[in-house]
Amino acid sequence: MKTIIEPFRIKSVEPIRMTTRAERETAVARAGWNLFGLDSRDVVIDLLTDSGTGAMSSEQWAAIMRGDESYAGAPSFTRFESAVRELTGLPHVIPTHQGRAAEHLLFPAIAKPGQVVPNNTHFDTTRANVELAGAVARDLPCAASRDAQGLAPFKGDIDLAALERCLADERDNVPLVMVTVTNNAGGGQPVSLANLRGVRALCDRFRVPFFLDACRFAENAYLIQQREPGQRERRIADIARSMFDLADGCTMSAKKDGLANIGGFLACRDANLADELRTRLVVTEGFPTYGGLAGRDLDAIAQGLREVVEQDYQEYRHASIRYVVERLAARGIPVLQPAGGHAIFLDAARFLPHLDWQDYPGQALAIELYLAGGIRACEIGSVMLGRVDPKGVETPAPHELVRLAIPRRTYTQSHMDYVIEVLEEVWRDRESIGAVKIEHAPRVLRHFRARFARMPARKAAPASLGGRA
Ligand code: F0G
Repeated sequence: MKTIIEPFRIKSVEPIRMTTRAERETAVARAGWNLFGLDSRDVVIDLLTDSGTGAMSSEQWAAIMRGDESYAGAPSFTRFESAVRELTGLPHVIPTHQGRAAEHLLFPAIAKPGQVVPNNTHFDTTRANVELAGAVARDLPCAASRDAQGLAPFKGDIDLAALERCLADERDNVPLVMVTVTNNAGGGQPVSLANLRGVRALCDRFRVPFFLDACRFAENAYLIQQREPGQRERRIADIARSMFDLADGCTMSAKKDGLANIGGFLACRDANLADELRTRLVVTEGFPTYGGLAGRDLDAIAQGLREVVEQDYQEYRHASIRYVVERLAARGIPVLQPAGGHAIFLDAARFLPHLDWQDYPGQALAIELYLAGGIRACEIGSVMLGRVDPKGVETPAPHELVRLAIPRRTYTQSHMDYVIEVLEEVWRDRESIGAVKIEHAPRVLRHFRARFARMPARKAAPASLGGRA
């Protein structure tokens, strides 16, 4: 059959509250035009993040009932540890309450002030944790990633030549190399096995540990299966194992490919590092057999890690994202291609060519999607990733994107049809969208709590950009 259906039936439902444009206008103005400040009951389709927002399976809910809440030595931990070991082959498994807690544990333990941490692209919390440890977070995305419309299969790859130069120039000053799979901030694009092998070889040559930021390892493995020569016949779990086999360790947010609502872990091969991390863990997260989690969370993750590598699940997941991307592209709406693993990324710079990066086109577009249809998306552009130096001089992000992240197993095809319809309307009226200014911004991770002001549209987009639906 041509139609790829959701490979599940719905057992429990949560009503969506419909809102009017006037209600949304009031709600988002009250939130300082920051969509993170909205009450979720004022959102119709919530695509802010795919993190912790998915639906758990009946087997996961059953696993929750098996959860054991003993402070030490709970069987829930043993089941969790076995699932992580089976998947990754990494012997030392340290639970944390989410991905950023694993990062917060790792970087102060291994990075010294002034050292350099390369990554294909740091996610915002990863960057913040590297910087909190006093180190420098250096993004080395591959050249293909700069072409938003290019159809290269592995735009998440790290630039191996740049990594080699970095390791040579910064000899002994690089505590580890990290690669984020898939590359979230770079558009949810996958990293190839060939690229990971290249990183491994460089890390061996320069004697530097190599860690994966493994949040979306299964989506990455599926895209390797589909796109990398020689991988089509392999199981997703086996491809994932090949990825982990190349690494010395990983940080993980189980809120993504753990199919859980909370949780994470750090896993590694080095027993001494694991010992140091467990010592730190007790102080901040909890005893090493629960990290910051309840026993029932550990059980839900153990089950989720097995479900996420199922072929039917990944087929459906990627088909639902491709469905939207292909329809938007057919209408001339500038969308990042090829479709990423967990989200649809709009190219806000091309969507709103009458705005400069200082006008924060991504934020302006995200606000408009909310006003038009109650869709909550997330700016990944100069609000989130722009850098402000100590003198207040700002440099832009590499792309001005708006991310429509798709929660796992949560929305159906008609929800996606609605999203497409809202986007068509906003695209038709794009010339009326004005700039956004930042009125207040916290020192780090400013996008979460910044307050904005909206400006009237200044000038019209050139007619040649056409493409009206
Ligand atoms: N690394 C990547 C690549 C991520 O996407 C995230 C979270 C983290 C680390 C941190 O994990 O949230 O469990 O602490 N990304 C979410 C997002 C928040 O919306 O992309 P966490």
